[in-house]
Amino acid sequence: MIPENIKKEYNELKKLIEKYNYHYYVLNNPLISDTDYDKLFNKLVNLEKKYPELRTPDSPSYRVGGKVLDEFRTVQHTTPMLSLDNTYNEEEIIEFTNRVSKLLNIDNVEYTCELKIDGISISLRYEKGLLVQAITRGDGLFGDDVTENVKTIRSIPLRLKDEIDIEVRGEIFMPKKEFLKINELREEEGLPVFANPRNSTAGTIKLLDTSVVSKRHLDSFIYYILSPENYNLNTQYEALEFLKNLGFKINPHTKKVSSVEEIIDYWKYWIENKSKLEYDVDGMVVKVNSFEYQGLLGNTARSPRWAIAFKFPAEQAITKVKEIIFQVGSTGIITPVAIFEPVFLEGSTVQRASLHNFEYIKERDIRINDYVKIEKAGGIIPQVVNVIVEKRNGDEIPVKEPEKCPVCGGEVGKLNPSEVAIRCLNPLCKAKLKRNLEVWVSRDAMNIQGLGPKLIDRIVEAKLIEKVSDLYSLDHFKLATLGHGVGPKMISKILQQIEDSKKRGLDKVLYGLGIPNVGKKIAKDLAKKFKSINNLMNAEYDDLISIEGIGNDIAQQIYDFFKNDRVREIIEDLKKSGVKLENEDMTSEGIFNGMSICATGELERMPRSKLKELIEKNGGVFKDTVTKKLDLLVVGKNAGSKLEKAKKFGIPIMTEEEFFNKYKL
Ligand code: IVH
Repeated sequence: MIPENIKKEYNELKKLIEKYNYHYYVLNNPLISDTDYDKLFNKLVNLEKKYPELRTPDSPSYRVGGKVLDEFRTVQHTTPMLSLDNTYNEEEIIEFTNRVSKLLNIDNVEYTCELKIDGISISLRYEKGLLVQAITRGDGLFGDDVTENVKTIRSIPLRLKDEIDIEVRGEIFMPKKEFLKINELREEEGLPVFANPRNSTAGTIKLLDTSVVSKRHLDSFIYYILSPENYNLNTQYEALEFLKNLGFKINPHTKKVSSVEEIIDYWKYWIENKSKLEYDVDGMVVKVNSFEYQGLLGNTARSPRWAIAFKFPAEQAITKVKEIIFQVGSTGIITPVAIFEPVFLEGSTVQRASLHNFEYIKERDIRINDYVKIEKAGGIIPQVVNVIVEKRNGDEIPVKEPEKCPVCGGEVGKLNPSEVAIRCLNPLCKAKLKRNLEVWVSRDAMNIQGLGPKLIDRIVEAKLIEKVSDLYSLDHFKLATLGHGVGPKMISKILQQIEDSKKRGLDKVLYGLGIPNVGKKIAKDLAKKFKSINNLMNAEYDDLISIEGIGNDIAQQIYDFFKNDRVREIIEDLKKSGVKLENEDMTSEGIFNGMSICATGELERMPRSKLKELIEKNGGVFKDTVTKKLDLLVVGKNAGSKLEKAKKFGIPIMTEEEFFNKYKL
């Protein structure tokens, strides 16, 4: 029997968490800090661990996944999921509106203009307000039951604001930023990259491990209700409002219009402005607003007569591949890069595109001197769509996989057969060292200013350094040998920066070492758990996977990394140079553990730099800007825009006095 008070606490907690979740993910207006949210969330999870019977299907704990499925069930849609006819130009859209007017025998039909989100469509069924089933479009008649995965999408309500039965449809998508991040990681891991956010959404929703889906941060817009007459809805516009009130995320850019000119204006406006959106759109959807008229117009076998997709022109360009070069990354991955004749595309001049790996080149048969069609994935990253084979004239030169590292001439190969990437296997490769140094000196790692890529290049080429830890044995004399442009003043500054970097702390060191797949967050978690590099080096595989967010593969990579003799040698050197490799600040005594804090306005107690030091010494992170993720803003006199922003985001705010009184620093 679960005590009544526990039940009550659990239910309140559940409601509270979903409320915060809704404000964050649907309204884009967070009410509390991430740390406070995590605290509540952990409380809920602990209660569920202790009393498993408490967990209901709408528990926010489903948001993080956990289940690993065997397969997806194929299920029939209650009503087929139709698709839309496409139009591409103004004449065709005029034809569409004329057709509609003629069939209805009305001149000024009202339409909604919506953005056509480039994701994958989903059908969601709710019973008594609870999400019971989510099905992909499939072939329109049968789709896959992906309910468990959909439950991890934070903007999709698990429980509606009203206890009704309803089936709704909409689009799930991956925000551009998330797509770019995932591809960056995949490239580093030697995995094939996704061509665009749509493909990565489709790939993600079909993953069997729900916790991986949860981490991919999919999002949603819902735009369709089945049998709207059941809810007394008369128009699409009303239906969207109704969806919004139920707790769904609806797209804010929908517009009601009553002429074809306005439709065309909307289309033109978004062609110009779509790149500013955080998600990909490939056109607009024009829908007859009235459900009565929609009913009169009806459907063809494939698509409704009351709606049409008005696609945006694909932004592509054609250019010539002048050269294909090979770049070597910090983990030794050799990436072929196409160098183009410069061409203008979506607001910038494009001169190069990663070809990712040699499989990619083979599949598309890309050769030097080929003309290729290019586009920007996620609106940002240029990539080759295909080769224009008709333009070949016999001058095209195929590229071969390098048999040696293009930088050091070392042996190349794959770390394991599942990788598509080939790597330079020489641990002393200069290219790897340069990339390693670039990460080591970066802001999020040891934050050594003044050592940019150009200088790193010169230092490595001059053989002043052979491994990252050699940075700490640089001196005036060695740096002076670089000559041109590197004078005594600059040298003193750099040496001081290097000296200062010794006390950054374990999490920064771990990030800087470039352990495969260890980003800022995991570096912090590792530092928090193991507290010293010795503990981490001696950790067992099981200790590593016990950390949340570290799965089998990453645990193995971390384990292997620290077993490597060369890595151990570097760590030994770092120790000898006095680089701090333990983190007493990260133990439970750190009063700001895990908190990110920003200060604004004129501070009276101490300069900002001193405050920064103090916060960092006590386990916190000092931030220069206010973002939604910030945990606290300290305000001095005459604070301005940062204060406003923090208020808008609902971030806790303290005056300087309150801050020092509370934390007794
Ligand atoms: S309405 C009965 N509205 O475009 C037709 N579709 O080929 C229901 N899409 O399969 C579709 N944004 O995946 C509609 N605002 C929007 C949309 C949208 C994206 C997708 C949807 C559909 C495809 C049409």
